[in-house]
Amino acid sequence: MKATKTDAPPLSGLSDYAREARLGALAPFSNFKVGAALLTVDGEIITGCNVESATYGLTMCAERIAVFKAVSEGFMKFAAVAVVADSRVLTPPCGACRQVLWELCGDIWVHIADLKGHKKTMRLSKLLPEPFDKRFL
Ligand code: THU
Repeated sequence: MKATKTDAPPLSGLSDYAREARLGALAPFSNFKVGAALLTVDGEIITGCNVESATYGLTMCAERIAVFKAVSEGFMKFAAVAVVADSRVLTPPCGACRQVLWELCGDIWVHIADLKGHKKTMRLSKLLPEPFDKRFL
């Protein structure tokens, strides 16, 4: 989905964008489709979905695709990310995504949800306490 100017939706509204983005996932190896939607402080929404590689290791998660898309389009200030997957337990961002989100988005709200409407919201700092970042370089 292309970035669109919207009123900043509540976090549950943001997950609707992630749910729609999930439909674009290319996950023939895991069959585990994930969608992400990143909200900028100005109310723009940039989405991403996971894209898998036959090498497995080159697979890219939905969250990093969303944030790299956003930064590559000039968006720099973020408020929240929503992540939607169809799993038995709610799917939080993986460790690599936590690191990249921290470095590029800061301590944003992270909203995770499934297709049945279960959801949970927390700050990224709860998922990545004591992060390594440019302050140490
Ligand atoms: N995946 C994501 O897109 N985001 C996450 O937060 C967890 C994992 C993807 C990567 C891979 O395509 C599939 O889910 C299974 O790990």
